[in-house]
Amino acid sequence: MTDAPAPATDGPLVARTPEELRRALDCRGVVGLVPTMGALHAGHRTLMRLARAKADTVVVSVFVNPLQFGPHEDLDRYPRDLPADVRVCAEEGVDVVFAPEAATMYPGEQMITVDAGAMGERLEGASRPGHFTGVLTVVAKLFLLVRPDLAVFGEKDAQQIALVRRMVTDLNLPVDIIGAPTLRDTDGLASSSRNVYLDEDQRASALALSRALRAGADAAGDGADAVRAAARAVLDRAATAVPPVEPDYLALVDPATFAEAPSDHRGAAVLAVAARVGTTRLIDNVSVTLEQ
Ligand code: PAF
Repeated sequence: MTDAPAPATDGPLVARTPEELRRALDCRGVVGLVPTMGALHAGHRTLMRLARAKADTVVVSVFVNPLQFGPHEDLDRYPRDLPADVRVCAEEGVDVVFAPEAATMYPGEQMITVDAGAMGERLEGASRPGHFTGVLTVVAKLFLLVRPDLAVFGEKDAQQIALVRRMVTDLNLPVDIIGAPTLRDTDGLASSSRNVYLDEDQRASALALSRALRAGADAAGDGADAVRAAARAVLDRAATAVPPVEPDYLALVDPATFAEAPSDHRGAAVLAVAARVGTTRLIDNVSVTLEQ
């Protein structure tokens, strides 16, 4: 860290345009960026704290990125409350909130995008075609606008952070990518902006995701197929719960490619799940090490 301005004490500066952002970052020291789509919750606070510990100037971007939503997804109903988000940022000592309008980020049709490659077509990418092109494109734009030295992403979105790391490597972007461990409620539910959509019964059913991951991780000593079978058994039971959990995918993948791990896979792997409870789509994952 360098001699840079002290963290904001009376709330962050809110920049609405790239010009305001550049002025805010004139005297910047080490800049840490936390990209978000707002609806900030306790999980985001852990990302901000990580950035605060490592950077002189912390920027949080709040932008619901239309490019990463499919035509029938929840873009319109995605929770938005900028004043509440700014309050959270103030409490976490964030220096700058960058909250651009969609027309600022996408002044015209986006002809040039960042292609997420084969890894971007697996799991989340298979269920949400074009999603990761949208994510990588907006993350690249944010990197170019903010020019951070480091950026913090949540490990709950395991495939997203793997792809961002790969983009940084493949495009030689001078940004350190830092992963923040998933924050869970005491019952195991992973923090997510979409949890606000769940009523009490749906929330209870949604616990099957983290239970399935735990069951899978507990079977790691018995190999890849045992991990998949243990997790699948929990999800199968949850499919008959009220309200039911409707799985989208459950996969044990190689963390470098997100391709399915073969039965004889050894070493690091990611067990990832996506499922719908009611109309809410949730994802979660856990890292496992296979020794068998
Ligand atoms: O993880 C998210 O909230 C979004 O995908 C991100 C990284 C802010 C890009 O819009």
